[in-house]
Amino acid sequence: MSHRHSEIFAHRGSSARCPENTMAAFYGAQADGADGIELDVQLTGDGQVAVIHDHVLDRTTTGTGLVRSHTMDEIRQYSAGSWFSPAFSEERVPSLLEVLEWISSTPLKLNIELKCPAWDRQELAEAVEQLVRKCGVSKKVIYSSFDHLALKVLERLSPDTERAALIGGTIIDAEKYAVQNHFSGLHVYYPMIDEQTAEAIIGRGLALRLYTVNDPDWLAYFLKQGVTAVMTDDPRSAVDIRKGK
Ligand code: G3P
Ligand code: CA
Repeated sequence: MSHRHSEIFAHRGSSARCPENTMAAFYGAQADGADGIELDVQLTGDGQVAVIHDHVLDRTTTGTGLVRSHTMDEIRQYSAGSWFSPAFSEERVPSLLEVLEWISSTPLKLNIELKCPAWDRQELAEAVEQLVRKCGVSKKVIYSSFDHLALKVLERLSPDTERAALIGGTIIDAEKYAVQNHFSGLHVYYPMIDEQTAEAIIGRGLALRLYTVNDPDWLAYFLKQGVTAVMTDDPRSAVDIRKGK
């Protein structure tokens, strides 16, 4: 058993109990005792930054079509909660600005995952960084992306802000890859990591956060191992497991 303390990040907010990537899910994460929140961002048609996972509106809103083909005002007309439950029908797709303004007055950390096609990389990274700077929250932010080149753009814009590469598979010498590319951490799909690799990553002073860990046995395992953080849809249950309940 490790003496290291693991943080609990609410994946898309408290998304097991609330519609993902909504203010209700983010408030829920804080109420559940999470240490941080993970959310997804994309550019809208008018160059604003919306908090939504899919590239299309269809699954999580009452709208249809590409996020990039709608203005933020248009997107805000749709419900982002009724797909989950009628109780959440008033929820809207948040702007990143709305989340940043709220989170600045909380102790929560914020993992902003940039979801961008290559052609939007520069514009999305610039727009996100500008908002984070404006709200003065860069110290509590961790940028992540499957697009590692987006993280290199962010390195140029804000060298001191944490950046973590998302990894959905196995990378040989992952810790060397991270160090070479000036990433402060790796966010890894949890079935892809073995204990030796985890220790190699943490041993190099890198953050290791695992997604998306919902199974209670795996949560207990990784919390005991002392990874930097687990990302979970159900932070309330993870907090209970960490307390040994
Ligand atoms: O950031 C970790 C995780 O959220 C990546 O996968 O599809 O849930 O955004 P996804
Ligand atoms: Ca994500």
